[in-house]
Amino acid sequence: MITLSKKHILLGISGSIAIYKIFELVRFLRKKQAIVKIVMTRASKKLVSKLSLQILSNHKVFDDILYVNNGSMIHIKLAKWADLILLAPATANIIAKIALGLADDLLSTICLATTAKIIIVPSMNNYMYRANVTQHNIQILRNRGILIWGPNFGEQICGDVGFGSMLSINLIMKKLKQYFSTPLKSLNIMITAGPTHELIDPVRFISNYSSGKMGFSIAYAASLVGANVTLISGPVSLVTPPGNIKRINVISALEMHQVVMDNINNQDIFIGCAAVSDYRITNFSSNKIAKKDHLIINLVKNPDIISEVSKLTKNRPYVVGFSAETNLLKKHARKKLIEKKLDLICANNVSKNRLNSISNDYNELYLIWNGGEMFLPLKKKQVLAKQLMKQIIIRYEKDNKC
Ligand code: C5P
Repeated sequence: MITLSKKHILLGISGSIAIYKIFELVRFLRKKQAIVKIVMTRASKKLVSKLSLQILSNHKVFDDILYVNNGSMIHIKLAKWADLILLAPATANIIAKIALGLADDLLSTICLATTAKIIIVPSMNNYMYRANVTQHNIQILRNRGILIWGPNFGEQICGDVGFGSMLSINLIMKKLKQYFSTPLKSLNIMITAGPTHELIDPVRFISNYSSGKMGFSIAYAASLVGANVTLISGPVSLVTPPGNIKRINVISALEMHQVVMDNINNQDIFIGCAAVSDYRITNFSSNKIAKKDHLIINLVKNPDIISEVSKLTKNRPYVVGFSAETNLLKKHARKKLIEKKLDLICANNVSKNRLNSISNDYNELYLIWNGGEMFLPLKKKQVLAKQLMKQIIIRYEKDNKC
């Protein structure tokens, strides 16, 4: 394959049990004429032999930080040699070390010394992956521009089920080919998700049933097509999906509005999936309000975030809105498409007790744009989000004549 031919790929291997799949990856890379040099951590050498990888890669396998080659330190030499550093499998430990900037073995030192792109393919037990500290470390790396591919959801070797398994070698190869063959820059896609909380006093708020599942599924689908995703999330209890996703948490509509406007420059596509509270409380009490027979709450309208984005005259992104309705679905959606000056609107029926009601795992959508419409039938939100993303990109490319 031309795209990988002669590419210098430094494969960093750490001690996850998924290491057994790496032999196949090395073979595939070499078949595609990539030049592969391997660096192993101490733990990885306990799991597989250095000699096997040496034979498969046709190069010396490196593991010693103090190794000197022709008078130059090996970590600097390899850091400069690499076109790409691929960490696969990447354990929670190597992820933490890179996030912290530690340099206590050859692999972490190379990652600190390189200017090459780093791609991390995590592989670990799902509790280790979901641990707050690992999620925090992954977010730090994403914010630094490091790509995180995977992990997959499924049954793990230890018997647990969840996110943590390494992507299949086929998928890693597919993504590598895409990575090296993308002539255009990746799309920047901003997504709002979840509800907002409008505080009445320090312990009470007004909100809605939005779970954030649709917005998070769209963020995942966007990362799968190689986009740089900014996910602005209201209060939800969801783990950030794997991929190149920068997550910013907010509480209120005003905060969401501020964060969107601060980060909107350079976005190619904006998807307003959040169920933004229409009103906020004007007489917020900084102390807990004592119980009384009647309580008067004054409400004022929140800014309409998506309309503000649509109104931009400079660097306006392609704008996609959502319209959750209980009746006259398409009629209301069309009205919002026009009034909010959207490019595309996704209408869904959120009548109570429906399988696709607002906090459920399923959804169906009517996509409506100026001059056309399309129905995406009932599916799990993760599946539907991928179909939706495909349609958004088709329409975005048509409108922008890409
Ligand atoms: O007017 P309505 O809330 O039904 O419109 C829904 C669309 O508008 C969604 O895309 C939602 O994210 C967006 N919206 C917004 N700011 C608001 C209210 C809604 O961005 N204050």
